[in-house]
Amino acid sequence: MKVIHDLNEIYTQIDFVRRDARRIGVVPTMGALHNGHLSLVQRAKQECDVAVATIFVNPTQFGPNEDLAKYPRTLESDLEGLRQLGCDFVFVPPSDRVYRANHSTFVEPPLVGKRWEGELRPGHFRGVTTIVLKLFQLIPAHVAYFGRKDYQQVAVIRAMVDDLNIPIRIEACATVREPDGLAMSSRNRYLSTEDRGRALGLWLALTKAQNCLMAGDTTCESLERGMRDELAKAPVDSIDYAAIVDPVTMEPMRQVDETAVAIIAARVGSTRLIDNMTLVANEK
Ligand code: PAF
Repeated sequence: MKVIHDLNEIYTQIDFVRRDARRIGVVPTMGALHNGHLSLVQRAKQECDVAVATIFVNPTQFGPNEDLAKYPRTLESDLEGLRQLGCDFVFVPPSDRVYRANHSTFVEPPLVGKRWEGELRPGHFRGVTTIVLKLFQLIPAHVAYFGRKDYQQVAVIRAMVDDLNIPIRIEACATVREPDGLAMSSRNRYLSTEDRGRALGLWLALTKAQNCLMAGDTTCESLERGMRDELAKAPVDSIDYAAIVDPVTMEPMRQVDETAVAIIAARVGSTRLIDNMTLVANEK
């Protein structure tokens, strides 16, 4: 496994691979890798000839009151995990080379990023689209793998790729969960034992929405009320949103005909968690 810090070097290496007509899969990450990230690298290994992971804690996607300084940095164990999977390249660029002193170009995120995370974390998706486009330029892979846990992020990246005609396929991969259902996240390590118990409320609320839908309740308002009740039982400390949205546009829905996505963002202690579930109505 080659660990590369230099921007020209990664581009040159990937260029060699492309000239050999080998397929490249890239997994962009901010490090603090867990089994969810590793499953994306495994998928890249299975489907492509060469797997590339990137590790970069992207400052432009953190708001002024967010946890950039506190974000977990575990490079040695991240590299060990990637080495064990047989990842071919890991790109770990220095922040001042990615964003040079005079950096002033940003990618305006697409419409699908306006609500939810876009509203609650102003500037977040602008940082995500900008870094992801930069990574796609430096690593012109054939496929990029992202976790479906960040559902809106994947929708934003897909729309950007379509709108800007970027020749890369976006694969959204299943959320990896702890045995009890909690979605794996780099932020879970901040949870105390007591918070960890309450964090399960997100999964229970999503499961409740699916169960109510299966039982014939197709009204979004009532499904959302059920999710909020379940979150209150956990209890989580605050709810940013608990909504049923269209899987493509992420606009709120009134009625679930076939499919919808239940999305939740809530705070447990000082940790903000997000999760989602694709809901499928009972076939008639
Ligand atoms: O999901 C993440 O870890 C980040 O938002 C990403 C896509 C690597 C961009 O910094």
